[in-house]
Amino acid sequence: MKLNTPLQLPCGVSLKNRLAKSAMSENMSPKTNAPTKELIRAYERWAEGGTGLLITGNIMIDSQAIGEPGNVIIENETHLEPLKQWANAVKKHNCQLWAQLNHPGRQAIKGISKKIVAPSDIAVKLPGMKAMFVKPKVLSEQEIIDIIERFGNTSAILKKAGFSGVQIHGAHGYLVSQFLSPLANVRTDKWGGSLENRARFVIEIYRNIRSKVGKGFPVGIKINSADFQRGGFTEEESLQVVEMLSNEGMDLIEISGGTYEKPAMMGSKKQSTIEREAYFLDYVEKAKKIVDVPLMLTGGFRTVSVMQQALQNNSLDIVGLARPYSLYPNLANDIFNGNLQKMEVPQPKIGLKMLDSSGFVDIVWHEIHIKRLGQNKKPNPKLSPLWIAYHNTGALLQQIGNIFTGKKKKRGI
Ligand SMILES: Cc1cc2nc3c(=O)[nH]c(=O)nc-3n(C[C@H](O)[C@H](O)[C@H](O)COP(=O)(O)O)c2cc1C
Repeated sequence: MKLNTPLQLPCGVSLKNRLAKSAMSENMSPKTNAPTKELIRAYERWAEGGTGLLITGNIMIDSQAIGEPGNVIIENETHLEPLKQWANAVKKHNCQLWAQLNHPGRQAIKGISKKIVAPSDIAVKLPGMKAMFVKPKVLSEQEIIDIIERFGNTSAILKKAGFSGVQIHGAHGYLVSQFLSPLANVRTDKWGGSLENRARFVIEIYRNIRSKVGKGFPVGIKINSADFQRGGFTEEESLQVVEMLSNEGMDLIEISGGTYEKPAMMGSKKQSTIEREAYFLDYVEKAKKIVDVPLMLTGGFRTVSVMQQALQNNSLDIVGLARPYSLYPNLANDIFNGNLQKMEVPQPKIGLKMLDSSGFVDIVWHEIHIKRLGQNKKPNPKLSPLWIAYHNTGALLQQIGNIFTGKKKKRGI
């Protein structure tokens, strides 16, 4: 089956098969922001499971600007030893481990992130969450250059630790995606305005990383097919950026879509999309016609026949899965042995529309499962999201309190 065939990337490195675990923020390192034993064990289990490529949950490049309090942060060599252990645990199974690098920009919560910065002073607009997402500070030219450097420096540290590659998080409304979006970026200097100017930030990040990791090291990106917001980054613009990145020498482009304001990456209510499974398939088919760079598509794949079909049609090169991995750690082996045809992945809800529709409940539920994998526990698809809320009420209340008082919070989940 094509799913179980290797793929050579432009840098010369080969992936052993066409299945990749897409990034899932693990949020498992609240005290030190270093990789923990449980985190490493979860990745070891996924690597034992036969997958060709594991992409980490977003790793922060600046301790002052973080997405969640338990993210791994790499801005110097302090965590080199646990990073080495993480890389070894995966690579001994002939599996690639790529670190997803992220800066949240304005999509950072007050009280968790000290520096809330963005291309322009336009806050994230989420009904009922105004207190969490404040107006960001506009980045100066020097600060933009500093962030670009950070992406490169963190990549060099990860390469030194033995990671097999890196992925720029250019999707889901975080800083790179904010620069691309005319809704978040209204700058009039060389970093805003025309598409060429809005794409300058991501291109410079790519060049900086490449200059520090060299030619033979895989560098990829996750990018939005569109923001799905009126006036936002469009499909047409995204296709042009994919072409620019391909010309730069990118090794793998992963397609997703949406932002916190419009979380398209977590699913669609459209019946046609639900039936077809893959959320952004139309887009990736268009991209495939204009670029040679390998393309990975993530979002919605659940059935092996649908994945196979997409590969056979040459619509994409790599099938990306996220939520199925928290319940099926052995999924690649099980698929290749013929023991798994369809993955059942519930969409947990607690009945509070604001939280359910934002994808927040879904994310916390899967984070708990990743933690269970790290504790060598079996997945439990019946785990109640209300149970999670009940057992973490103290931690949740503390988090909410800290948001309003501006203190860095501790996480108890
Ligand atoms: C718990 C959780 C954490 C996530 N964290 C990230 C992340 O750090 N970076 C990212 O690019 N996407 C993240 N995502 C989105 C997934 O990578 C993926 O795009 C989305 O879940 C759709 O794919 P799926 O239908 O296979 O789950 C996360 C999703 C979940 C459920």
